[in-house]
Amino acid sequence: MEKLLQSTLFVILIMATKCGSGTAQSQHHESNSQLDPDPEFIGFINNVTYPAGREAILACSVRNLGKNKVGWLRASDQTVLALQGRVVTHNARISVMHQDMHTWKLKISKLRESDRGCYMCQINTSPMKKQVGCIDVQVPPDIINEESSADLAVQEGEDATLTCKATGNPQPRVIWRREDGEMILIRKPGSRELMKVESYNGSSLRLLRLERRQMGAYLCIASNDVPPAVSKRVSLSVQFAPMVRAPSQLLGTPLGSDVQLECQVEASPSPVSYWLKGARTSNGFASVSAASLESGSPGPEMLLDGPKYGITERRDGYRGVMLLVVRSFSPSDVGTYHCVSTNSLGRAEGTLRLYEIKLHPGASASNDDHLNYIGGLEEARNAACRRHTRWHPLLATLLLLLWMRTNLRAGGA
Ligand SMILES: *[C@@H]1O[C@H](CO)[C@@H](O)[C@H](O)[C@H]1NC(C)=O
Ligand SMILES: *[C@@H]1O[C@H](CO)[C@@H](O)[C@H](O)[C@H]1NC(C)=O
Repeated sequence: MEKLLQSTLFVILIMATKCGSGTAQSQHHESNSQLDPDPEFIGFINNVTYPAGREAILACSVRNLGKNKVGWLRASDQTVLALQGRVVTHNARISVMHQDMHTWKLKISKLRESDRGCYMCQINTSPMKKQVGCIDVQVPPDIINEESSADLAVQEGEDATLTCKATGNPQPRVIWRREDGEMILIRKPGSRELMKVESYNGSSLRLLRLERRQMGAYLCIASNDVPPAVSKRVSLSVQFAPMVRAPSQLLGTPLGSDVQLECQVEASPSPVSYWLKGARTSNGFASVSAASLESGSPGPEMLLDGPKYGITERRDGYRGVMLLVVRSFSPSDVGTYHCVSTNSLGRAEGTLRLYEIKLHPGASASNDDHLNYIGGLEEARNAACRRHTRWHPLLATLLLLLWMRTNLRAGGA
C-alpha cells in the first residue's frame, strides 16, 4: 500500500515537472515573439528558364531573420550549397549574394543540363521553413548521327525511311526539306499518286515505292526555342538499270558535213556509256550483240573521242545526254550507231542510222531516191578510198597517239 502511494506520487511529480517545463518554454517562446517576430519569406522564389551556358539566379527574400540563418540546398539530394553569404560546396560555378538585407541570391554560372532541377531556400527555425525555386536549362537542338539515317541507296520500287533523331530542351521539332528546294513527293499508304509537299513534319520520312524523281539530297532540320537550329543532309539514291532513248533514229546528212547523234540516258548509279559503230557485213550492218563484242571480230567498232569523232556526255542527276559528232561525213560513215549505257543493274542501248543526203543527184541520173542512195554508196566508197590514201599518215599518227593515251590511262587507273 505504501509502495503504490510512492509510485503514484512519482508519476504526479513527473507530470508536474513536465507541465512546468512546458509552460516555461511556451512562456519563453511568447515573450521571444513579442520582442523578435518569427522569420518569414517575402513572396515566392520565381522559377526560371535559361539557355545552357548562361547564368541563372534564384532570389530568396526573408524578413525578421534575427539570429537565424538562410541556406540554399539542392532539392534532389539535399546537398547544402550555401549558408548565409558563404558557399559551402566545391563548385566554382555557384555563388551567393546577399542584397538589401533581406535577399539571398543563388547564382549558377555557365549553366549545364545537370543544373536543371529545384533548389531550396531554408531558414533554420524549428521547425525549419523552406521555399523552392526551379531552374530549367534550355539546350539548343542537336542531331544524333548514330541514330539518324546515313546516305542510302534503294532500288526503284522499294521503300525507304529517312530518320533524324534530335535532342534538346525543349524537345526539338524536326522537318524535312529537299536540299534543291524542290517539293518532296510523298505517297500515302495505298495510294498510287505522289503528293507534293514543301516540307514534311516529323522525324521519320517514309517514302513508299520509290520513284527515280524522288532521288536527291534531303535535309532534316531540328529546331526549338533555343538557337541555333541544326540540320543534317541525307542523300537518297534511287537505283535502276539504264534506259536509253534516241530522239532521232534516222539521220541524213550530206557528204563533208559534221553530223551529231544524240541519246538520252536515265540511269542510277551513274552508267558507263560508249558508242559503237555497227560492223559492216555482206548483208548489211551487224547488230551489236554480246557475243560479237566478246569474240572481238568482226564485231562493231568502239568509237573514241578524237579528230573523227567528238564524244561528249552531259549529266544532270540520273539524266544524261550522250552526244557523238561524226566529223566530215564520208560514205564510210553510213551505217548504224549504237549508244550503250551500262551500270550495275543492267545495260541498254539505242540504235541510230546515218545515211547520206545527196545534194546534187548527178551521175546515176535517176529520180528514184532508193537508186540514188545506192549510187551514193558506190560513189562514196571510191571517195573514201581516195580520202584514206590521202589521210593515211596523219590518221595513223593520230590513232597511235589515241591508242597510247587510252592505254596509258588504263594502265594508270
Ligand atoms: C515552381 O515550380 C515548382 C515545381 O514545378 C512548383 O511547385 C512551384 O509552385 C513553382 N513556383 C512558382 C512561383 O511558380
Ligand atoms: C508543320 O509544322 C509547322 C510548324 O510547327 C506548322 O506551321 C505546319 O502547319 C505543320 N505542317 C503540317 C503539315 O503539319
